Amino acid sequence: MTGTETVLGAPAERREGREKVTGTARYAAEFDVPGRAQGWPVPAAVARGRVTGVDAAPALALPGVVAVLTHENAPRLADPEDPTLALLQNPHVPHRGWFVGLVVGETLEAARAGAAAVRVTYEAEDFDVTLTADHPGAYVPDSANGGFPAVTEHGDPDAAYASSPTRVDVEYRVPPLHNHPMEPHASTAWWEGDRLTVHSSSQGTTAVRAELARVFELPEDRITVFAEHVGGGFGSKGTPRPDVVLAATAARATGRPVTVALPRRFLPTVVGHRAPTLHRLRLGADADGRIASLTHEVTTHTSRVKEFVEQAAVPARVMYAAGALRTAHRVAALDVPTPSWMRAPGECPGMYALESAMDELATGLGIDPVELRIRNEPETEPDSGKPFSSRHLVECLREGARRFGWQERDPRPGARAAGPLLIGSGVAAATYPVLVSPCAASARALPDGGFLVRVNATDIGTGARTVCAQIAADALGVPLERVRIEVADSGIGFAPMAGGSSGTASWGWAVHEACARLVARLAEHSGPLPDDGVLAEADTSGTADAESPYARHAFGAHFAEVTVDTVTGEVRVTRLLGVFAAGRILNARTARSQFVGGMTMGLGMALTEDSTVDPAFGDFTESDLASYHVPAHADVPSVEAYWVDEDDAHLNPMGSKGIGEIGIVGSAAAVGNAVHHATGIRFRELPLTPDRVL
Ligand code: MOS
Repeated sequence: MTGTETVLGAPAERREGREKVTGTARYAAEFDVPGRAQGWPVPAAVARGRVTGVDAAPALALPGVVAVLTHENAPRLADPEDPTLALLQNPHVPHRGWFVGLVVGETLEAARAGAAAVRVTYEAEDFDVTLTADHPGAYVPDSANGGFPAVTEHGDPDAAYASSPTRVDVEYRVPPLHNHPMEPHASTAWWEGDRLTVHSSSQGTTAVRAELARVFELPEDRITVFAEHVGGGFGSKGTPRPDVVLAATAARATGRPVTVALPRRFLPTVVGHRAPTLHRLRLGADADGRIASLTHEVTTHTSRVKEFVEQAAVPARVMYAAGALRTAHRVAALDVPTPSWMRAPGECPGMYALESAMDELATGLGIDPVELRIRNEPETEPDSGKPFSSRHLVECLREGARRFGWQERDPRPGARAAGPLLIGSGVAAATYPVLVSPCAASARALPDGGFLVRVNATDIGTGARTVCAQIAADALGVPLERVRIEVADSGIGFAPMAGGSSGTASWGWAVHEACARLVARLAEHSGPLPDDGVLAEADTSGTADAESPYARHAFGAHFAEVTVDTVTGEVRVTRLLGVFAAGRILNARTARSQFVGGMTMGLGMALTEDSTVDPAFGDFTESDLASYHVPAHADVPSVEAYWVDEDDAHLNPMGSKGIGEIGIVGSAAAVGNAVHHATGIRFRELPLTPDRVL
């Protein structure tokens, strides 16, 4: 394409697509540097306690085993920022599956056999891994994930609820959920003197380098972290994980390059999970459906290693014009693995519960659920009172209803059948905040007419490097083909991770700035360019992180159609349709892919994805993809994603909001609401598997 005015928003193909489909793209475990050894972790076999002894001899006697590292002999590390990374430093076992050793082998097979042969003895202690809404250890934390206040209250929600003619008081449960990116976590590390080089499957190299510098007590400029290709993360690679610390530790201990590629069955325990959430919602409305009182209370778990509080009541602070509003989080610290970010932490489980309860309220009132949401549209953000920078939820609902054919729907539950199948449809809203962080970038004009743009973005499969090149081409006013881009190298400069749906806004802002400066510099330049070209650099500290007087969020609406088999209890989604308002869409192809991917993940949350903290052993029962069921192709029907173009001057130079997470927000509620419409029965615990539905 050459029309520069169409570069931004055009459906440009992923730049690394060919490398990926031809198998030439190298991932972190595939850097087969000379002399490389492989590491395999040894997980703790008790749920709480301490290691009392390690017999490494049977492992060391096996062919190809190079070393057995435990707290008794591993190099001492300084305290990490993230306590889940204090590995092989002490005998304490905070949860089952915590790594108590690492076996290094000449091959992956040797390391694995060695790990199976190490004999570890423990002193086991009593443990508690079971979350209940009235858990005696539950407390109100200082804040929830994201720094949000744990509790907010406006007006008198109890009195307003008591005097409301129509009331809903319901409890919803979301089980623990696992990120399970297609590429499990892996890192390859080697030392040259006191210089450390790492290839890590991560959502951001800046944070990985900072943590390695901290634990190895090195200046950051001695460490280089690359993450050129990353096979997904969904939040679980947003922070450094055990693989990178173990690989660097083992490389230092053995003097060899070491790869630690975590087997998938270790992932649920050591890379974070979406914590289970127990929701109680109370909604009171007048006869016209105006919400007089909204209370959303969440109870969740965290580990004893670190406090992480899934901020699931936060979206209720954004969504509806309630006369009185209370949102609250409580957390119990249990002997469980440490939860963390998973695609749309907070919004995803929170909106499942809120949007399901809204459907119950619509049913109680006899008001169409699309109309109920429109009637409760707030003028300003309910919690903060700030004006919205833009909010097109109503447009998304109306556009979705039109495309879905919602007006033909018979509102009566259980009214449509085809043979043994009951058929229903449901709607739910979506929201996700606009986040942005400072970033560095550079742009160089080369004598051959090309441009080299460098930004330490990470492309976790989203198309990040492609859209950054589009932003550059747009700002430079040149065709896309003339822009070369380099990403995912900590040496380029600081950058935020690919997370919080903020990557493109943050990296793109810096790229835009660098390119705008370069254009100005070139305007002053006369004659041919020097051999090394003309360089412009940008750093958006102080601009990209400025407080906004506006409440900035993306919004959306999901519509789902399901069939429920009255013989088998199987729920199948036959149609999913989403309409999103997320600012300016910068690449129609990759944006659609993000929306559809999020919606599909919501379908999995609704129907198949389930995990259990085993009360006998203390770890997750569903540890692989044979037991943790993500949707397969046959489970995913027609998924349609559309967007409403928004012109919002209060965002960033591109006018974009984030798109990576909003697709999963509300999608499961739309499916659940469709199941209620099909059957007339309200299921309040996910997933909607046949054993529950039948
Ligand atoms: Mo996403 S859970 O912010 O990587």
